[in-house]
Amino acid sequence: MSDKKLKTIAVLCSGGDAPGMNCAIRAVVRTALGEGLEVYGIKRGYAGLLEGSFLKMEASTVGNIIQHGGTMLQTSRCPEFHDPDIRKEAFHILRRKNIDGLIVIGGNGSYAGAQALQAEHGLPVVGIPGTIDNDIQGTDYTIGFDTAVQTAVEAVDKIRDTAFSHARTFIVEVMGRKSPAIALHVGVCTGAENIVLPSDEVNYDQIAQDIKRGINRGKISSIIICAEGEKAGLGYEIQKELEEKHELSAHVCILGHIQRGGNPSAIDRFVASRMGYVAVKSLLKGDKSMATAYVGGQVITIPLEKSLGKKDKYLPQFVDLARALSI
Ligand code: F6P
Repeated sequence: MSDKKLKTIAVLCSGGDAPGMNCAIRAVVRTALGEGLEVYGIKRGYAGLLEGSFLKMEASTVGNIIQHGGTMLQTSRCPEFHDPDIRKEAFHILRRKNIDGLIVIGGNGSYAGAQALQAEHGLPVVGIPGTIDNDIQGTDYTIGFDTAVQTAVEAVDKIRDTAFSHARTFIVEVMGRKSPAIALHVGVCTGAENIVLPSDEVNYDQIAQDIKRGINRGKISSIIICAEGEKAGLGYEIQKELEEKHELSAHVCILGHIQRGGNPSAIDRFVASRMGYVAVKSLLKGDKSMATAYVGGQVITIPLEKSLGKKDKYLPQFVDLARALSI
């Protein structure tokens, strides 16, 4: 693509929705309009792009959305976008709409699509990290994480009431197919006896030992937090093992998608608003392939390629912390 003045940009959400995406869309649209740009929202992510589903965005289009979860543009997972021919088609659709730059709000898969569009067709792109999993490399924070953790913590607090009243052990399964972040934070914040991460070999003996340790000192209820892993339902496997091998009975609660919905927290609104603003400024500066990132309390831009992978920061010390504090 030639280096011409930026006139029209587009924004889309892709992958799983996350609370705060609306705040990011609002910030992108209003920053761009303030700079005299035209803005289009693309509905349903890359799938909507391929269908030519564009929405002209005005300041009022993003009115009264700051407090809502989900995404007003809707989102999707689009495996077809792995195909270079499909991406070529997408680029031509963007060209026909005179789009000079694209902002993609999403997770790792969404970033990979944006990076490929840039590398193959020269379209300037900026990624905004939006996923409850907080697992994108190069940024300390992804939009939606704080709200999701808070939702899960509130749910476990409620479960704890029943766990105590009925003297029960509960295994609560939280989201994070490949990411331990939600489980680690929820486990520490709810005083869990043990936290099982998606990448772990499950140490059933250790879990049983932790529950029994509590019982021996007079505890009548326990909470085990486990991340869902590749498929939801790990909680039931743990329950079976505990019953069959350790004669411990436990109830399972899978929190599921309630963790993805709901009004974004103030932190998510704040970070998303800053990131949307910075993303537009990056395109205006003439950047070609960047991602916004939250680093040391600042919102900055980093090369998109540095944000493509999964965060490698694995924090097993939080498992130890939860276990140390739940004696
Ligand atoms: O968006 C991230 C996430 O919520 C993961 O935590 C979870 O494993 C996955 O998405 C679930 O995806 P889906 O909603 O497509 O089933």
